[in-house]
Amino acid sequence: MPALVVQAARCNEAAGITGALATLEDDFFQYLEGTTAALDALLLKLLADPRHSDLKVLERRAIPRRMFGDWRMAHLQWNADTEAIFRSFSPDSRRDLRDIDPSTCAAMFRAWLALLEGGGPTLKDMNLR
Ligand SMILES: Cc1cc2nc3c(=O)[nH]c(=O)nc-3n(C[C@H](O)[C@H](O)[C@H](O)COP(=O)(O)O)c2cc1C
Repeated sequence: MPALVVQAARCNEAAGITGALATLEDDFFQYLEGTTAALDALLLKLLADPRHSDLKVLERRAIPRRMFGDWRMAHLQWNADTEAIFRSFSPDSRRDLRDIDPSTCAAMFRAWLALLEGGGPTLKDMNLR
């Protein structure tokens, strides 16, 4: 588990934020859920973090309920399973997170979540659930 994810999970628990972080080589792709105030505060921190650049908010909207309700920060690594899901949503794209259609992001994270949920207790523990 990268230190970044451990740190994020710890901070997110305190802030009531849940979600997932997908990593693909040098790119990060994150799904976050929380109150408007908590998300605004986190966005300011993320924008100021020198560990990444070119941060782009793809979609932001009200949701009826949390999808990652008990995941402080699930970590999704790029592998055959996660890539197959990515491909099913973006069949024509290169292997590039920047090619993703923003309107499909939430659905893609939902599919990745199903993968995590099916991963058994070890995967759940690893993910600081
Ligand atoms: C790709 C990436 C994702 C991050 N995700 C989170 C997150 O979900 N929650 C969080 O609190 N910090 C996250 N961070 C770290 C923040 O940018 C910041 O370092 C952290 O919130 C600590 O800030 P503080 O010590 O000033 O409170 C992330 C950083 C990177 C590079």
